[in-house]
Amino acid sequence: MTYQIRSAEERRQAILDNAARLGIDDAFISKLVDTFYARVRAHPRLGPIFNGEIDDWDAHLAKLKDFWASVAMNAGRYSGKPVPAHFKLQGITREDFQTWLGLFQATLEDLADSEETVAYFMQRAERIAQSLQLAMFGLESLERKG
Ligand code: HEM
Repeated sequence: MTYQIRSAEERRQAILDNAARLGIDDAFISKLVDTFYARVRAHPRLGPIFNGEIDDWDAHLAKLKDFWASVAMNAGRYSGKPVPAHFKLQGITREDFQTWLGLFQATLEDLADSEETVAYFMQRAERIAQSLQLAMFGLESLERKG
């Protein structure tokens, strides 16, 4: 068996090619983030949590677009710290994370070209949600599902 050793630049290009194949670019991410947070703000449980914490929505949406471009296209534009940003939130439950993920998935189903694109974002969102919950609630939160 032969192993191909790829440079960092080749790996970056492969991620970009794959994202382009899935219809993921800055315009898609911008629409995804705008639509998702409009739904979050209108949600009876999540809306008050976000609206109570975030004063400058333009800045928050710009940050989240950089975040998703970095997660989905390796854009390297986000350098924040998600764990402390969530750790300080009071009264958030594991069920709220399920609600968040359900709303994110429904938004993707409405906007994405294919199921593969939905799955691409959901895999990443679920992984990040798991690590945020691990930081917020400890190991037990991962053992009990639902
Ligand atoms: C119930 C679930 C969640 C709630 C209630 C929530 C709430 C919030 C709030 C209020 C902020 C603003 C904090 C601040 O500016 O001080 C924030 C920031 C952020 N959230 Fe969430 N969030 C949730 C889940 C998630 C998930 C699953 C992800 C990623 C997949 C995510 C990604 C981010 C990022 C990247 C930021 C910006 C952090 C920074 O300042 O750099 N959040 N979230």
